[in-house]
Amino acid sequence: MLDKVKAGFSARFPGTPSVYTAPGRVNLIGEHTDYNNGFVLPASIDKAIWTAIRPNGTAGVNLYSVDYDAQVGFGLDGPKPSQLWASYVYGIAKELAKKGVAVGGFDAAFGGNVPLGAGMSSSAALESVFGFALNELFGGGLTREEIAKAGQMTEHNYIGVKCGIMDQFASLLGRDGHLLRLDCRSLEYELVPFKIDGYRVLLVDSMVKHSLASTEYNVRRQQCEAGVAVVARHEPGVETLRDVTFGMLEKYGAEMDPVSLKRCTFVLNENKRVLDGCEALKRGDIGTFGKMMNGSHHGLSVNYEVSCPELDFIAAFGQAYDGVIGARMMGGGFGGCVIHLIEEGVHDRYLAALRPAFEKQYGKEPRVIDVVIGDGARKIG
Ligand code: GLA
Repeated sequence: MLDKVKAGFSARFPGTPSVYTAPGRVNLIGEHTDYNNGFVLPASIDKAIWTAIRPNGTAGVNLYSVDYDAQVGFGLDGPKPSQLWASYVYGIAKELAKKGVAVGGFDAAFGGNVPLGAGMSSSAALESVFGFALNELFGGGLTREEIAKAGQMTEHNYIGVKCGIMDQFASLLGRDGHLLRLDCRSLEYELVPFKIDGYRVLLVDSMVKHSLASTEYNVRRQQCEAGVAVVARHEPGVETLRDVTFGMLEKYGAEMDPVSLKRCTFVLNENKRVLDGCEALKRGDIGTFGKMMNGSHHGLSVNYEVSCPELDFIAAFGQAYDGVIGARMMGGGFGGCVIHLIEEGVHDRYLAALRPAFEKQYGKEPRVIDVVIGDGARKIG
C-alpha cells in the first residue's frame, strides 16, 4: 500500500512528498465509556493509513484516494467536499486551523489497509494521519493530544458523529507492545505492557456493516446525558457519568427514564470492568481479564443494546470454547468485529469450528483479521 500511495502521488503531483502513517486500533475493553468521561483500554495496530503529502503554496487541496482511485480538489475556504472520504481531510484541516495552525494548500495521495466498517477506526486513522502531517508541515506545534482532540471534533462538526476521544487518542499515542489505559476525563494515560505469552488477540468480523451506528450512537450518548441530568438536579457536583456512583443510580434511578437508567448502569459497570481488568492483566491474571471481556459483551448486548445477532453468535461461540479466554464485540457496535483473547494453541482449531457454524447460521463466511499491536502516528519518509 505504501508503494501505491507514493506512486499515486508521483503520477499526479510535482515534487518530493513527505510520507506519514497513522494506525487503526483495537480496544480490549471499555466500550461507550469514552464520551462519558470514563476509562478505555485500546491499542494501536499494524493496520494503517499512509499519505504522501506536500504543501503546494496555494489555498487549494488536491487529494487522491488510492482505494477509491478518485481525485478531488477543494479550497480550504470553500464548502465541504461532497465525498465523505474527502470531508474527513477537509474537516481535520479546518479543526487544526481553529487551533491556530496556519494550514495552507497541499497535494496528497493516501490509502490504507484498515478494514472499513469493522469497528477498527479507519476514520480516526484518516483524521490522525492528516492531523499529524499537517501539524508538522505547517509548523503547528500541537501536541499529539491536541491533534487527537481536533480529530474528534472533525467527527462532531463535519461527519455528525458525537464520538469520544478513544480512537484518535489510540491512533496518535499508541505504542508497540502496549495497551493504553486512558482516563477520558483527564486524558492521563498509562502504557500497560501487553505481555500475553501463549495467547493472542484475534478479530473475527461479523461482516455486518454498521449502518445504524452513527444515528444510534448519538442516541446512546443522549440517553446517558439524560440520566446524568436527573442526578445533577440533586447532586450539584455531577457533570458527567464519571461523577455518578452506583449509590446515586440507586437513589435517583426511579426518576430516570428506564432506558436511560439501563444505559447509565452499563457505563458504570463497564468502567469498573476496565479498572478491574487492567489490574488483573498487570498481575498476569488473564482469566479474570477474560471474564471482564465477556461481561462487557453481555452488557453491550443486553443493557446498552448496540450488538446484533451475528456479533452475539460469535461472542457466545467464543465464550463457550475451551481456550478462548474472552470474547466481546468491539467498537461502536451494530456490526464490525468480535475481539477474542485466545490461547495460541487453539487458534486454528477454534476458527475451523467457528467458520462453518457461522456460515450455516448466516449463509456467509466471517472474515478473520490478524492484528499486531504497533506504534501510533509517525513520519516515515
Ligand atoms: C466508536 C467511537 C469511540 C467510542 C466507541 C465505543 O469507535 O468513535 O469514540 O465511543 O465507538 O466505545
